[in-house]
Amino acid sequence: MSSLLHPLRHCVPVALLSFVTLCAAEPSITIEAGAAAGKVSPLHAGLMTEEINHCYDGGLYAELVQNRAFLDDAKSPVHWSPTQNAGLTAAITLDPSQPLNDRITTSLRLDARGAATSPAAIASVANDGFWGIPIQPHTNYQASFYAKAAPGFSGPILVSIQSPNGDTTYAEGKVLRVSGEWKPYEVTLTTGDVPTTMNARYVLSVKQPGTVWFSLVSLFPPTWNNQPNGFRKDLMQMLVDMHPKFLRFPGGNYLEGDTIATRFDWKKTLGPISQRSGHQGPWEYRSSEGLGLMEFLQWCEDMKAEPVLAVYAGYSFREQVKPGPDLEPYVKDALDEIEYLTGPTSSKWGGERAKDGHPEPFKLTYVEIGNEDFFDKTGSYDARFAQFYDAIKAHYPQLQCISTVGFEQPDKRRVHSRTPDAVDEHYYRAADEFVKVAPGYYEKYDRKGPKIFVGEWAAFEDPKIKPWTKGARNQPPTPDMRAAIGDAAWMAAMERNADHVVMQCYAPLFVNVNPGAYQWRPNLIGYDALKSFGSPSYYAICMFNQNIGDEILKASSTDTAVQTSATRDSKTGEIYLKLVNPTTTAQKVAINVKGVTSLVSTAAAITLAADPLATNSIVEPTKVVPVTTSLSDVKPGFSYEVPATGIVVLKLKR
Ligand code: AHR
Repeated sequence: MSSLLHPLRHCVPVALLSFVTLCAAEPSITIEAGAAAGKVSPLHAGLMTEEINHCYDGGLYAELVQNRAFLDDAKSPVHWSPTQNAGLTAAITLDPSQPLNDRITTSLRLDARGAATSPAAIASVANDGFWGIPIQPHTNYQASFYAKAAPGFSGPILVSIQSPNGDTTYAEGKVLRVSGEWKPYEVTLTTGDVPTTMNARYVLSVKQPGTVWFSLVSLFPPTWNNQPNGFRKDLMQMLVDMHPKFLRFPGGNYLEGDTIATRFDWKKTLGPISQRSGHQGPWEYRSSEGLGLMEFLQWCEDMKAEPVLAVYAGYSFREQVKPGPDLEPYVKDALDEIEYLTGPTSSKWGGERAKDGHPEPFKLTYVEIGNEDFFDKTGSYDARFAQFYDAIKAHYPQLQCISTVGFEQPDKRRVHSRTPDAVDEHYYRAADEFVKVAPGYYEKYDRKGPKIFVGEWAAFEDPKIKPWTKGARNQPPTPDMRAAIGDAAWMAAMERNADHVVMQCYAPLFVNVNPGAYQWRPNLIGYDALKSFGSPSYYAICMFNQNIGDEILKASSTDTAVQTSATRDSKTGEIYLKLVNPTTTAQKVAINVKGVTSLVSTAAAITLAADPLATNSIVEPTKVVPVTTSLSDVKPGFSYEVPATGIVVLKLKR
């Protein structure tokens, strides 16, 4: 790395126009490091999440059985199939006349008929999982189910993980006796020296004729921190690596639902999973609600991130609640929910939280009132917001209330009767558009106005294929390097203004990459039952979030397409300079760090650069990943070449 003097020092005052033009055109980036221009919001970068693309069921929530409660389809036991051998026949059917309880209102009936003609006689029911059941060698799997036998049958029930044709058994266990009443059963299945595969099925079998009903049939692999009802380890690790400061949940459209009845009804998501019926989500499939409110909070705690709680505010896609008396029960419900998170154990809902295993209250700063209420064409949001705002402030004056209509929306859709503490803006934009609008975007915002929460943002590559359209489903589920550049330009825009853009998060976070599993693209992190990968945008976010510090430094650029943001750690003095080159040629820039007399001559450069069309996928998970190199000859004026289609973080030490 060669050093370059400040461009103007090359210039002598001569009248040659061409020479003057050459000097003026020398690309440069100047960082004012003498004094901080602002404080980085301590919650600046976080995560947004909801049940879309099989984010939870078939994703982060580690349950391996799809349709475990047999409620996914009222007509047939989807994802379950009978198998039989050697004289026994197996028939399966949904049986709502034998419900587990008033929440799990049906069960699966297995009828084994015939007579065993050999020791191999068996009648079984098998689950195909979420596009496969993943298995690893030397691993314990927690199998559990409820069962009830008809007179004449008392067991045993064999529990196994097998190859799809049943020829190979990867792990097996046995429940010796089942009674005529509903009872829970548990078996640990341990694999031996088996291949790693997701080409497997989960099987419950009997070896004698008889009838048995099953409910809530579950199989968990080892989970993050070994928590019961917990999270998939690889995906949690990827999230932790993003250094999120908050988690916005439960949506998104998943909060609102298509109808009021199918909103995220938090009270129904608490307690044992046998008490959770699940509900039809807005993204074309049913949610098990295995990942309920307490699991969201556990997830926050696991990541050391603060919850940003979105409360249902009376708007569902096909139905709305009128402001006024009709809305009051929902306002009360939101107050209960806040009490569940933050109340003392002596309070009703704080006490429920303690019963659910978490006596300590959770830290809560922000409550979001609804989601994307600019879609409510009745114009009721202002009044609905006011009703929630007044009630929340009356009970919890310290809480910050977020309106879901930001300044990217027309004025008439925004809240005017109250001043929201923050507004949530959503930006799904073509990468080129982000690159174009990012410079100066948030600099224009009125610092005296509400704080900004960019609660959903993502770049897509082809401006004609919007993420929510059917055409998007024919595209790769995660974005390529072009989108990462748009995302990085947008992140730089938000980070330059991280005093005012108090929080921001990409959406959607997760995608199960199997055909038919996703409803939206692009998404940040992809996976199948066994493997996971980060998109180039994921790595760009990690680079930004892992290197941010707490102070904003003013950074300006001249005559370069490279976009930038500079921040600093006030304790160590380390400066983080982000550089985003949206062009397909390397860009040389003079970097001037003003207000410091010296810099350590070596610096780390973290670089994510690739062909614009390059991407990661389930088969090539690490094609585009950041590389760290060491620069030498670093000083307050030095030159640096930003690689083509490249995102760089320079870590400059004093
Ligand atoms: O992130 C996907 C969806 O986009 C969210 O559910 C919704 O808030 C937005 O329209």
